[in-house]
Amino acid sequence: MRHQKVLVLDFGGQYNQLIARRVRDLNVYCDLMPCDMAAEEVEAYAPIGIIFTGGPNSVYDAASPRVDPALFKLGIPVLGICYGCQLIAHMLGGAVEHAAASEYGRRTFTFSADCELSFGLPKSSVCWMSHTDHVTRVPEGFSVLASTPSCPVTVFGSDEKKIYGVQFHPEVVHSECGNALLKNFLYRVCGAKGDWTMKNYVAEQVGRIREKVGDKKVLCAMSGGVDSAVAATLIHRAVGNNLTCVFVDHGLHRKNEPEEVMAVFRDGLGMNLVKADAQELFLGKLAGVAEPEQKRKIIGAEFIKVFEREAKKIGAVDFLVQGTIYPDVIESGKGKSAVIKSHHNVGGLPSVVDFKEIIEPLRDLFKDEVRRLGTELGLPDAIVWRQPCPGPALAIRIMGEVTRQKLETLREADWIFREEVAKAGLEKQIWQYFAVITDCKTVGVQGDFRTYENVIALRAVTSVDAMTADWARIPFDVLERVSSRITNEVPHANRIVYDITSKPPATIEWE
Ligand code: XMP
Repeated sequence: MRHQKVLVLDFGGQYNQLIARRVRDLNVYCDLMPCDMAAEEVEAYAPIGIIFTGGPNSVYDAASPRVDPALFKLGIPVLGICYGCQLIAHMLGGAVEHAAASEYGRRTFTFSADCELSFGLPKSSVCWMSHTDHVTRVPEGFSVLASTPSCPVTVFGSDEKKIYGVQFHPEVVHSECGNALLKNFLYRVCGAKGDWTMKNYVAEQVGRIREKVGDKKVLCAMSGGVDSAVAATLIHRAVGNNLTCVFVDHGLHRKNEPEEVMAVFRDGLGMNLVKADAQELFLGKLAGVAEPEQKRKIIGAEFIKVFEREAKKIGAVDFLVQGTIYPDVIESGKGKSAVIKSHHNVGGLPSVVDFKEIIEPLRDLFKDEVRRLGTELGLPDAIVWRQPCPGPALAIRIMGEVTRQKLETLREADWIFREEVAKAGLEKQIWQYFAVITDCKTVGVQGDFRTYENVIALRAVTSVDAMTADWARIPFDVLERVSSRITNEVPHANRIVYDITSKPPATIEWE
């Protein structure tokens, strides 16, 4: 990497990925690494600054995580947040105690001295606290810089040593000046230049990919989702027609998706994109199958077979593209080992493709950076802001057997729902929203006639990582328009219900 780097050492706090994202949003690259990294490793990594995250432990428990003490002697600026703040005080000779009362939520803190962190910030502002321990005495050579009425050492540090501790969480939006404080640390203390931009990243990656791939062959499974689309576009920018993409049209996509993928990537960007028409094959295999896991297994297995058939036509390739992104890398535990998502619909590909190496052009990027990269590469919003879609696609949004008629009804209903959410300007606030066709028929009356048709359910959730989710409070008038349009415009649907279950206990998808 040619850009400057900050090291975020992970003590297990709930906001750790958020800290890393904030740093990157301030145009400084950073990596989230385990907190027990040795000082020599840190030196070799050559960061311009180090951030210690929060964590659930108490520093005075002998077993709680520490950093290598030699780290403080490297002359690299350090910022400790919450547990990280307490750890600095504890390891450098200050004192940390259990506070009389825990502090959670908003507090107003006031700077009592000027320092590099306070530059340009108001004297008092609201911050977000979440702690039970706090620093009661700062180490020698350090000063108390800010406090709240109940937390006497809210910020401490030394401009000379370039080491600071902040008890609150500057990374959360409720800390009004949190971003400005982080920016001061990065730019005033660490000397950041702000060289982490998507424009630079594209230039850097295109150079690296070109160097690595040369005139060898690359193969990519294009799902139409954001990650594979952006990965393929970046590689295409670097190696042009040495990249071949395969899009498996299994007939289970949402309305217009296959057409859009072909229009954007083959016709628009001139990519070497092969569409494998397998609609009949998939529908045939799914005929008579109602059990969700069985449907998933059939689709997964057929997908791999179709891809394998197409890959064989292309012959041996040197590289297979994998859309791994940075959170997958972090979740692998070690920060650097390769991960192949098992649930992902291209996860089984490496075993059937004749290739020499996996190429992962997005493994340094968070999801929001992947989207920004997509925009930088000129991809349309419809691709860049596409919601996550499960590998088995509409097959797990059709309860029971997948039939052509149910697919058609669902596609139209889903399209209307998405159109109305977009018209209401809600699409970037909702994590995922889609229609489901239930296996339930109810009686209705349409134009003086009795009908006996399917119930359509609408599902919309807010979420950060899909591990937990809450049902989205979509305004009633938007739901009303969707309901009215679906029952008027879509055949075989006479009743609409809205799913008001969070995850847990439900899951986001219905199957
Ligand atoms: P659930 O339904 O488990 O979904 O709450 C969590 C997230 O994962 C997506 N999902 C999948 N993605 N292959 C995928 O690539 C799958 O088989 C699959 N199943 C669920 C789902 O859309 C949601 O975003």
